[in-house]
Amino acid sequence: MKHVLSVIGTGYLGATHAACMSSLGFTVIGVDTDEVKIGQLSRGELPFYEPGLDELLRTEVASGRLTFTTDFSAVADADVHFVCVGTPQKKGSLAADLTYVEGAVSAIAPYLKPGSLVVGKSTVPVGTASRLREQLLKTSPQADLAWNPEFLREGFAVEDTLRPNRLVVGVTSDRAEEILKEVYEPVLALGTPWIRADLPTSELVKVAANSFLATKISFINAMAEVCEAAGGDVTVLAQAIGYDPRIGNKFLQAGIGFGGGCLPKDIRAFMARAEELGAKQALEFLREIDAINLRARQRVIDLVRAELKEDLTGLKIAIWGAAFKPESDDVRDSPALDIAAQLATAGAIVTVHDPKAMENAKKRFPTLTFSATAKECVAGADLVLHLTEWREYRDIDPKEIKSLVKSPIIIDGRNALNRDLWTASGWKFHALGRAN
Ligand code: UGA
Repeated sequence: MKHVLSVIGTGYLGATHAACMSSLGFTVIGVDTDEVKIGQLSRGELPFYEPGLDELLRTEVASGRLTFTTDFSAVADADVHFVCVGTPQKKGSLAADLTYVEGAVSAIAPYLKPGSLVVGKSTVPVGTASRLREQLLKTSPQADLAWNPEFLREGFAVEDTLRPNRLVVGVTSDRAEEILKEVYEPVLALGTPWIRADLPTSELVKVAANSFLATKISFINAMAEVCEAAGGDVTVLAQAIGYDPRIGNKFLQAGIGFGGGCLPKDIRAFMARAEELGAKQALEFLREIDAINLRARQRVIDLVRAELKEDLTGLKIAIWGAAFKPESDDVRDSPALDIAAQLATAGAIVTVHDPKAMENAKKRFPTLTFSATAKECVAGADLVLHLTEWREYRDIDPKEIKSLVKSPIIIDGRNALNRDLWTASGWKFHALGRAN
């Protein structure tokens, strides 16, 4: 049976999922309450930066298979409904805000035809899926609800959706699993591992995976602190431990730590949920993971002060990078932008450049100064900070820009620049976790 799909919520996750499923041949209806966003998507314009997705979106919209609307009644034409709305951190709490997920399920409930399957993809606290399923069955007894966590990385969203390293489905019936197998048939045909789980396990898989990734990053950043204190080099340490396949060399890049719309809020929501469940102690270590992560930002600020002077008032600091990571224009909880804002608050004159995230950064921190190019950004700078490891910054010739700055001092907050090249060009070069 050829299913018709709806995707509720067309942010980073939903827009990617909708375009990718359309590219697999499905008719897909994308629904969102944001009229501006829906207008853009309907014209085949991507409202954010994600490599390869703009082209895919254009092609799929032009094919006629992919449409977007703010009218929830349009989902009546679909039989499988993916819920892809956000679950941000709740104000004044560590927990996740479930308003949008709950709102999405109740908004589509009146339009579900018998036999419909609602599939949650949003990251939610364990127990949410069962609760939503019970609520849904009260109003739509012939529908069902499954959970299908999403593991895509921004910057690789299309690749991760079409060729994921696993598919995890939380289901309560064979029929729900069958429907999802039909939907993902082209992806399964690539040999993708398929994991059937119960609802709570499927919710936990997602937060466990993100907690593990966050732990890996904070582990290496803790090692960076020790390396600095002991006169070691964390980049060599990471390389050396990474050759052990039980450890692996991925996610051991020391620097200013993790940010974005997922890792930080997910570990916090996980702690909050564990506490509600009476398992607080089991996740106490995540508090330390969070603390190490935030400390990395502070260490950069301390380093700036140590290098320049305690009072930063009037000093010119150039910052390369505003996005939470390269290949993304997302500035949610961006360590780079957080450092920029903290330095500006401390009185420094901060100028920021980012190849893609400038518009979003401006919206969040309109009082910062932004430069159109990386070179313009460093003009007259007392110090340069490299905080998001875009390729563009690695390609910069340190010799060439030395004449533009006031003093040639750079802090590589991502351990991504070639230290030898920079020092040979007459720069004073600092990097987190690398005692010079
Ligand atoms: C993360 C997960 O990697 C995805 O699997 C997951 O689906 C997604 O969250 C989500 O929950 O939706 P993403 O937020 O796109 O994906 O970014 P990551 O690639 O995980 O990077 C997160 C942060 O960690 C970035 O700020 C990055 O700069 C930092 N990082 C990453 C490091 O500081 N060091 C590393 O070695 C790796």
